[in-house]
Amino acid sequence: MPSTIVVGGFFGDEGKGKIIAYLALADRPAIVARGGVGPNAGHSVEFHGKKYGLRMVPSGFVYEDARLLIGAGVLVNPEVFLEEVEMLGVEKRVGVDFRCGIIEKQHIEADRGDARLKDKIGTTGTGCGPANAERALRKIKQAKDVEVLKPFLCDVPAEINAALTEGKSVLIEGTQGFGISLFYGTYPYVTSKDTTASQIAADVGLGPTRVNEVIVVFKAFPTRVGAGPFRTEMSEEESKALGIEEYGTVTGRKRRIGRWDGEMARYAAMINGATQIAITGIDRIDSACRGVTEFEKLSEKAKRFVERVEQDVGVPVTLISTGPELDEIIDLREAAENKE
Ligand code: GTP
Ligand code: IMP
Ligand code: MG
Repeated sequence: MPSTIVVGGFFGDEGKGKIIAYLALADRPAIVARGGVGPNAGHSVEFHGKKYGLRMVPSGFVYEDARLLIGAGVLVNPEVFLEEVEMLGVEKRVGVDFRCGIIEKQHIEADRGDARLKDKIGTTGTGCGPANAERALRKIKQAKDVEVLKPFLCDVPAEINAALTEGKSVLIEGTQGFGISLFYGTYPYVTSKDTTASQIAADVGLGPTRVNEVIVVFKAFPTRVGAGPFRTEMSEEESKALGIEEYGTVTGRKRRIGRWDGEMARYAAMINGATQIAITGIDRIDSACRGVTEFEKLSEKAKRFVERVEQDVGVPVTLISTGPELDEIIDLREAAENKE
């Protein structure tokens, strides 16, 4: 599909990084562009036995012919950005919109020094909230004002829209998740911006009429880091008994684990305008499904779970992730197209 947006349907960390990296390799988009808040997000990508935790560069970097862009809505921490660019060796194909807001030392200090933010809400301490507040007050520095970013500056909407006009495809990465949207999440226990597909489209300068597909990613067992309501949360004993333990990519904090929440999933899919659903962690429903790549080879238990998700949400499940590695996935998109 010409343009596809991928977003999170629960509280972030649904495995968007893995899904996006898979789609980049499978669909070969000309551009992979990142929307979302900023370096508070950590996308994990496990590729060729290596683990990457990406906070700025799009997870689609795994497809070597893709141009990698960071949209104007995103906050950039130049230090984190440059480190990742060097680590991944992507300097020739990465671009930062000249209007991106810049996170500086004082934003990080304010995030970590404010007990309301740090202790009550449990922010990631990456400076995103204070930087977005300053951006709204029209005091923030933009990428074009930062010397070390000069070689990377570009006009992201111009590049994306030109690619679409030329018939190429673009993949847009969302970060965070529906439950921590500033507008629709569990306020005040939320991040500093909306996190739904409309916001992600605006972040990269893609108008609503040019969005073709919205894939909402749900994990079989949702997780939440930081404080705030989590109505299907289970006790630590329960999650341990299920063998589930996760730690944050950015902060290293232990993630709270919960059970599938169909009502939340349906509401999230509605506001995101989901056209497809991706489920991650099906191997946690049944460990026998780890690494399976064909739907028929899933266990009855796993198949029942997928059916339940489709019933709860009312949108077809087209991608089923069966483990963290990129090739551990069932791609039903062609099958779904043929059904229509
Ligand atoms: P944010 O943008 O920060 O919201 O993160 P994200 O959605 O990219 O997710 P993140 O990578 O932070 O967390 C997902 C975790 O689940 C990572 O450790 C992944 O490696 C792992 N993961 C992804 N898919 C699967 C899967 O199908 N099974 C299992 N067991 N783990 C998975
Ligand atoms: P902030 O975005 O750092 O201000 O943090 C606000 C809330 O959003 C906290 O509960 C964080 O844990 C959560 N949060 C922000 N970004 C992510 C993410 O990418 N994944 C999961 N939780 C996040
Ligand atoms: Mg994450």
